[in-house]
Amino acid sequence: MAATAVIGLQWGDEAKGKIVDLLTEQHDVVVRYQGGNNAGHTVVFGGQTYKLSLLPVGVLRPEITSVIATGVVINPAALLKEIDQLRARSVPLGQNLLISDRAHVIFPWHMAEEAAFEAARKQDAIGTTMRGIGTCYRDKAGRTHAIRMGDLLYPDLLRKRVAEIAAQKAPVLRALDPQSAPLDAAQITRDYLEYAERLRPHIVDTTAWLHRSLAKGQRLLFEGAQGSLLDVDHGSYPFVTSSSSSGCGLHSGSGVPERNISRMIGVVKAYTTRVGGGPFPTELLDATGQHIRDVGREYGTVTGRPRRCGWFDAVAAGYGARVSGVDCLSVMLLDVLSQLDELKICTAYEIDGEQTTDFPSHIEQLARAKPVYRTLPGWKQDISHLRKLADLPKATRAYIDTVGELLQLPVWLVSIGPDREQTILA
Ligand code: IMP
Repeated sequence: MAATAVIGLQWGDEAKGKIVDLLTEQHDVVVRYQGGNNAGHTVVFGGQTYKLSLLPVGVLRPEITSVIATGVVINPAALLKEIDQLRARSVPLGQNLLISDRAHVIFPWHMAEEAAFEAARKQDAIGTTMRGIGTCYRDKAGRTHAIRMGDLLYPDLLRKRVAEIAAQKAPVLRALDPQSAPLDAAQITRDYLEYAERLRPHIVDTTAWLHRSLAKGQRLLFEGAQGSLLDVDHGSYPFVTSSSSSGCGLHSGSGVPERNISRMIGVVKAYTTRVGGGPFPTELLDATGQHIRDVGREYGTVTGRPRRCGWFDAVAAGYGARVSGVDCLSVMLLDVLSQLDELKICTAYEIDGEQTTDFPSHIEQLARAKPVYRTLPGWKQDISHLRKLADLPKATRAYIDTVGELLQLPVWLVSIGPDREQTILA
C-alpha cells in the first residue's frame, strides 16, 4: 500500500504544489478531491512555470493518471480553458484525465448569488474568490438545485433541470440585486451541452476506478487544496471555504477510506498567510509583514490579491495537524525569512487573560486571541543554494527544530526556494 496525501495545515497557499510535484514521479495516480477553481497551484516544471487551478498537478506528466474526484466542484468552462491552455503548451491531455460523474457542477447562477451575498455582508464579507464555490456546495447539500457532472451527459435531463432551477433562482437573484444579468436558461443549456460533449470522454465513476487502481497495486497521491484552517467544519468558521479542506475531506471527497492511506504529509509555510477576511492572530501589519509579502511574492495565484502575512502560528498549525492526522511536516518558503534580525513563533494564545494552546472554536474568541511569542534569532545569509540540513545556519536549524517540536511532528522536508532542487530532505 503506497497512498500518500499532501495536506495544508494553515489557511491555504502552503506551496503544496511543489510537494505534490516532487512526489508525483513516485506515484501512478494524482487525485484532487475537494475545492474547485478557487485553488491555485504554481509549479515549475521543465524550466517552465505552470499555474493550475482545477487540474491536479499530475497532468504535467502524461504517464500519470490525474483524477478530479467526487468532492470537487467543477466549473466546466474554467476546466476546459485550463485544458486548452495546457494543450497549447504541448501538454497532452487524453485518457490520463478522469473526472468524477458524481462531482457537482458550478453554473453562472452560483457566481451571481455569491456576488450578491458577499456584497450584502459589506465589511463582514468572507472575501471569497467569487468562483461560485460556496453557493455550489450549498446547492449540493440542499439537493433540490444541484446538477452533477454525470447529469451533463443526459441532454433532456439537463435541459429540464436548468430550466427549473433558473426559473426558481431568477426572481431571488433579481430581488437580491436588481442590476443582475437575467438567467438565460436556453443559452446556459446550450453552453453546458457543448462543455459536456468535450468533457464526455473524461467523465467516469472515479470511485470505482480508484478502487480498481488500488487493487492493481497502483500508487495514489492525494492533493489537498486550500488548508486545514479553511475547512468548513473545523476551520475558522465562517471565514472558511465550503469544502472539507483538512485531511478529513480526503475520504469523503475521493471515496477512498483511511486504511488505504499510508502517509499523510502536512505542509506549512515557515510563516503564516491568509487571503480574504477573518481573524488572524499573528498578522503583521507593519514593515516586517510587507517585507515577507515582497520577498515571498505573497499575492494570490487565483485572484492576485495581496496575502495577509504574519509570524508562524504553532497553535493554529498544530490544530490543523491534529485534525488532519498528518504524520510528518514539510516546512516551506524558509528562505523568505532570511535577512530578518529575529523571528517569532506563536506558542499559545492569551484570550481574556487566560493562556491556551487550543485553537478557538468561535470566531469571537479567535478575534480576541493575543499571540504569546517565543523569539528566535534570525539568520542573515542566503540559504537558497544550500542542499544539506547540516549546512544550514545554526539559527535556521533551531527554527526548523522549534516548529517540529511545537507541532510534535518530525520535519521530513524543508523548502528553500521554488525550484525542485531547492529542497532538503531532513
Ligand atoms: P471560497 O473558497 O472562494 O468560497 O473563499 C472562501 C475563503 O477561502 C476566502 O477567504 C478565500 O480567500 C479562501 N480561499 C479559497 N481558496 C483558497 C486557496 O486556494 N488558498 C488560500 N485561500 C483560499
